[in-house]
Amino acid sequence: MDTYSIWAEGLTKTFAMSGGRSTIAVDDVSLHVAPGEFYGFLGPNGAGKSTTIKMLTGLLRPTSGRVVIAGHDLAVDPLEIKRHIGVLPEDLNLYERLSAPELLLFAAQMYGIPRTEAQRRTDDLLNLMELTETGSKMIVDFSMGMKKKAALAAAMIHSPRVLFLDEPFNGIDALSGRAIRDILRTMTSRGTTVFFSSHVMEVVEKLCTRVAVIANGSIVAEGTLADLRKQSGDDDASLEDLFIRLVGREHGGEADKQSDDLRWLNSEAETADDRK
Ligand SMILES: Nc1ncnc2c1ncn2[C@@H]1O[C@H](COP(=O)(O)OP(=O)(O)OP(=O)(O)O)[C@@H](O)[C@H]1O
Ligand SMILES: [Mg+2]
Repeated sequence: MDTYSIWAEGLTKTFAMSGGRSTIAVDDVSLHVAPGEFYGFLGPNGAGKSTTIKMLTGLLRPTSGRVVIAGHDLAVDPLEIKRHIGVLPEDLNLYERLSAPELLLFAAQMYGIPRTEAQRRTDDLLNLMELTETGSKMIVDFSMGMKKKAALAAAMIHSPRVLFLDEPFNGIDALSGRAIRDILRTMTSRGTTVFFSSHVMEVVEKLCTRVAVIANGSIVAEGTLADLRKQSGDDDASLEDLFIRLVGREHGGEADKQSDDLRWLNSEAETADDRK
C-alpha cells in the first residue's frame, strides 16, 4: 500500500437520521490510485462522492475502513498527510474577508513557505486563474466561479503530491477551465496525483487515466475507459453512454414515462395546438 498515493479499503460512512434511523452514504468503498494518475470519480447526485473525498482527506471520520495517503495512515498521521495534500472541498470553506492575494499568502504561510517564494507562487497562481484584476476586493464579493478559482489556487500553493478536487470545473468558464486542465496535466506528468469528482463527462474522458463510478454509495465500475468499454461489451461507447448504463437510467421507457408525467409543463403549447 506504500507504493500508492491513495489507498483506501472498506470505507463506509453511516449518518444518523432523525427518528433513530440511519443512512449508509458510502458502503465498503476501496480505491487504489498510483502516483501521477489523473483519477476521475463519477457518480450521480447523492451517490457518495463528496462523502468519500471528505473521508480520504480527514474532513470526515469514516464509520469503518482505512485510508493510507502517500504511505501515511490517516488515522495515525493526519498532520503529515495534510502537508502533502491539497483539497478543494465541495463547500469551498474560504476565509471570505480576505482578498485573493491575502488568502494565498496566508495559505503559503500555513505551509511554512518563505515569504519571497510565497509571493512568487501567489503571483503565478493569480495569473493562471485570471484573478490578478481582483486586487484588494474581498472574496465574499467574488462571483461563484471566482471563489472556486481562489480555492483551487489555495489548494495548489504548496505544490502538493496529491490533489483532491471536488467538482473543480463546475462553474468555471471555458478559458479558465482550459488553463486549469493544462496545469493539472503538467502536474500529473511530474508525478502529482489528481483525484477529482466531476459531472462533466467530456473533461473526464479527455483527462483521466482511470475512473471509478459510484452509485448509491458503492463502486459499480473501475478502470480505464477501455476497461469500462470492454466490461459493457460496447467498444464505441462514450463515457456518458457508459455512465448512464452503469447508474441504471438507460431505459428508454423511463424517458417516455417521464415526458408523459410532465405533460402539464407543456400545457401552454398543448393549448395552442388544441386551438389549431
Ligand atoms: N451530514 C450528512 N448527514 C446526513 N446525510 C448526509 C450527510 N452528508 C451527506 N449525506 C447523504 O449521503 C449521501 C451522499 O452524499 P454526497 O454529498 O456524498 O453525494 P455526492 O455524490 O457528492 O452528490 P453531488 O453530486 O450532489 O455532490 C446523500 O444521500 C446525502 O443525503
Ligand atoms: Mg458532492
